[in-house]
Amino acid sequence: MNTVAMTATGHARRHAVFVATLAALAGLMFGLDVGVISGAQQFIQREFAISDAAIEHIVSSMTWGAAVGAALAAWLSKHFGRKRSLVFSGSLFVIGSLLCASAWSPEALIGARFVLGLAIGIAAFTAPLYLAEIAPRDRRGAMISTYQLMITIGIFVAFLSDTGFSYIEGWRWMLGIIALPGALFLLGVLSLPESPRWLVLKQRDADASAVLQKLRGDPDAVRSEVAEIKEQLRTPQQGWRLFLENRNFRRSVGLGIALQVVQQLTGINVVMYYAPRIFADMGYATDAQMWFTAIVGLTNVLATFIAIGFVDRIGRKPILYAGFAVMAIGLGVVGWLMHTGMATPAEHFLAIAMLLLFVVGFAFSAGPLVWTLCSEIQPLKGRDFGIGVSTVTNWILTGIVTLTFLTLLNNFGKANTFWLYAAFNAVFILFTWALVPETKGVTLEQIERKLMSGKRLRDIGA
Ligand code: BGC
Repeated sequence: MNTVAMTATGHARRHAVFVATLAALAGLMFGLDVGVISGAQQFIQREFAISDAAIEHIVSSMTWGAAVGAALAAWLSKHFGRKRSLVFSGSLFVIGSLLCASAWSPEALIGARFVLGLAIGIAAFTAPLYLAEIAPRDRRGAMISTYQLMITIGIFVAFLSDTGFSYIEGWRWMLGIIALPGALFLLGVLSLPESPRWLVLKQRDADASAVLQKLRGDPDAVRSEVAEIKEQLRTPQQGWRLFLENRNFRRSVGLGIALQVVQQLTGINVVMYYAPRIFADMGYATDAQMWFTAIVGLTNVLATFIAIGFVDRIGRKPILYAGFAVMAIGLGVVGWLMHTGMATPAEHFLAIAMLLLFVVGFAFSAGPLVWTLCSEIQPLKGRDFGIGVSTVTNWILTGIVTLTFLTLLNNFGKANTFWLYAAFNAVFILFTWALVPETKGVTLEQIERKLMSGKRLRDIGA
C-alpha cells in the first residue's frame, strides 16, 4: 500500500473508532438510567410521602417502557433506519430525564420514567445492531463487549452522582442531570453515518459504499464488503413465519426466553435498583448506604473485565456454573445474616462482602454471557426476531423483579427473600447443565445446522 492509501486507512480507522464510541455511548445512557433510581427513591418517598408499593411502580415503570421500546425498535430500525432510531431514542432520553426532574406527582414520575424506558428499549436494541453492522470483522467481539462494559460504567457513574446529590437530598438533580449526557448522545448520533447494511437493504448501494469508504478507507475492501452484505441479505429475515412453521426455531426462541428469565431471577436487579434500601435494612445510615452502593457499582464494572478476558478461553458453561454457585452462596449468606440480625461489626462486614460477591458472580457470568448466548443460538433467518423476543423478555422480567422486591421484603421477610433468590441460583446450575449449549469456538453456522437438524438444545454447540 502506498503512503496516501495508508493515511486514508489510518484516517478511516479513527473514524470507525469515533463511530463505535458514539454508539457505545448508548450503553452508557442505558446504564445511567438503570442506576439512577436506586439512590433517588428514599428522597422521592419522603417528599411525596408514598408507600413502598408506589415506589415499586416508580422503579418498574421504566422497565415496562423499555419492553415496549425494545418491541418497537426492530420495526423502527428496519423502516426508518438505525440512525433515525438512535436519534429518536436520544431525544426521548433528554425529554424523559427533564420530565422526571420536574415531576409534580408520583403518577407524573411514573409516566416520565416510562418515556425514559422507551428511550432505553430502542437504544438497547438498535445500538448493538448498529455496532455489529459498522464494526470491521476483526473488531466485532471487542466492540460488543465494550458496549456491555459501558452499561456497567453507566450504572456506576449514576451511583456516584446519586451519592454526591444525596448530601442535598437532591433527587430532582439526580434524575435531571442525565439530560446532559443525553443531549451529548443526541448531538453525537446526529453526526453518525447510516448503517451500510441498512442502506443496502434499502437498495441504496452507492450511499452504502460512500459510508464504508469513510469507515474502511480502502476501495477494494469496500467493494468486497458491499458484495458480502448483498449475499447475506439474500437470506431475508422472516422470524414470525419461521416461528409458526418451524419447531426447531421455536426451541431456540424458547431457550432465549428461558436464558433471560434465568438472568433476571438471579436477583441482580434487586441490587442494581434497590441497593441503598438493602443497606438501610442492614442498619446503615444514608451516607453509608450511598457509598456502599457506589462500591457495588465499581465492583460490577471491574468484574465485567473478568468475563471479557475469559469467555472465549474457558467457555460459557463452566463460567455459568461458577457464577450461579457464587451467587447462590453470596445471597444465601446475606439471607442468613438478615435472619440472625447482624449483631457484630464482623457480621456487618460479612454482609457487605457477600453482597459484593454476589455482584461479582453475576458480572463475570450471567450478565454478559446471557446476552452473548442469546445472539449465538438463533438461526440467521430468525435472528432479529429471536433476539428481539429475548430482549423484551429481559425487560418484562426486570419489571416483575423490581415491582415485587419491596413487597417480598415486607410480607415474605428479608431473609426469606434473599433465600428465595439464592435457591433460584442453585436451580440454575441444573438448568445450565440440562439446557445450555457450549458455544465456545463453534461457528454460528454449525450451531444453526445442529439446531435445525433437531439435536437436543444442550448439544447444538460443541
Ligand atoms: C442485565 C441488566 C442488569 C445489568 C447489570 C445486564 O446484563 O440485563 O438487567 O441491570 O446487567 O450490570
